[in-house]
Amino acid sequence: KHKYDYLLVGAGLFNAVFAREASKQGKKCLVIEKRGHIGGNLYCENIEGINVHKYGAHIFHTSNKHVWDYMNELCEFNHYINSPLANYKNKLYNLPFNMNTFNRLWGLNTPEQVKQKIEEQRLKIDNPANFEEQALSLIGTDVYQKLIKGYTEKQWGQDAKSLPAFIIKRIPIRFTYNNNYFNDPYQGIPIGGYNSIFEKCFEGCDIYANTDFFANKEIVKSANKTVFTGMIDQYYDYCYGQLDYRSLNFEHEVMNVDNFQGNAVINYTEREVPFTRILEHKHFEFGTQPKTVVTKEYSQEWRVGLEPYYPINTAENQEKFVKYEILANQQKNIYFGGRLGEYKYYDMDKTVEAALSLFKKMNGSHAYR
Ligand code: FDA
Repeated sequence: KHKYDYLLVGAGLFNAVFAREASKQGKKCLVIEKRGHIGGNLYCENIEGINVHKYGAHIFHTSNKHVWDYMNELCEFNHYINSPLANYKNKLYNLPFNMNTFNRLWGLNTPEQVKQKIEEQRLKIDNPANFEEQALSLIGTDVYQKLIKGYTEKQWGQDAKSLPAFIIKRIPIRFTYNNNYFNDPYQGIPIGGYNSIFEKCFEGCDIYANTDFFANKEIVKSANKTVFTGMIDQYYDYCYGQLDYRSLNFEHEVMNVDNFQGNAVINYTEREVPFTRILEHKHFEFGTQPKTVVTKEYSQEWRVGLEPYYPINTAENQEKFVKYEILANQQKNIYFGGRLGEYKYYDMDKTVEAALSLFKKMNGSHAYR
């Protein structure tokens, strides 16, 4: 008989939700995490009394009422609404593109005038050959040149003309003066940061931090089943080759002012500015601390040793992933989940849904309300 019902590899959101469901059923979990802390990419470090999102801005938003209720059992959300800005040559534009943005760009006041302007500027071609042509055909020159081109080139580390057109199928444009980035009805930031969610979810589990699965493979023997949220290609020793990722580099800085930029997120859309955005964390929680903490975010190519952040959704990567998935499906008692295990960009609400659904699949639907 195994000591644990589940070995959970990775202490991020996916396994946190899984652990909570398992505990509700009286199951015993062993959690191993290669970082020095639980929380995965949602982890917040308290610096100068401010909850710093160490692995990038995390704003919870969902249209799924069940997921929203589930999260509200774990924490209390504030009323933060994501309204990022774009800085282009020191002029600030509202995002997502809406009437405020267009008014700032062109001095136009009505939706009719704006629609006409976009129509005049749009590139009229049938089959856009690359990202640039696609964007120009959707939104026209000014928005593309000032707010999209440089940012995209930094994000991908490539010229917009060499990026495929399919990256942007559509550009969300609003003809209202609405700066709320998300369309979802539920949105907020946990008051006091994300960490307490993880303390609750992993309550009763045995947790080993600073423990990499690959240096401790025999540990699987201590549990009936394993849920693995690390990189699936690494698990199979890259036998079909490496899956590609984009990585990020974060430069955190404490500043001796109480308010540096007046907003939580400002994107820098000029190619010449090396970072893609600056976060000012206190604004996620309407903080009034005497100092502030800002983070410059740089996009970079992933290589072994760096954090993999964004899966790159090319046909080649998908083909590789499917091969790994076939291996995974053939193997008993190991399940792959989360953004690295499933090689998929998951927002937090989708991660919660996926973890609940895996638990349900493994335990029969009676486990569910
Ligand atoms: P996550 O990466 O959180 O956890 C996996 C854990 O496994 C990590 O802690 C890792 O260290 C550990 N691990 C990996 N390999 C291991 C090994 N070999 N041994 C032991 N441990 C191992 N979503 C949203 O809804 N709103 C938002 O604003 C954002 N913002 C955002 C910004 C950035 C920059 C990124 C990259 C992502 C977002 N997201 C987001 C998405 C969100 O981060 C995502 O939904 C969750 O982190 C997914 O949780 P997982 O548990 O799958 O992965």
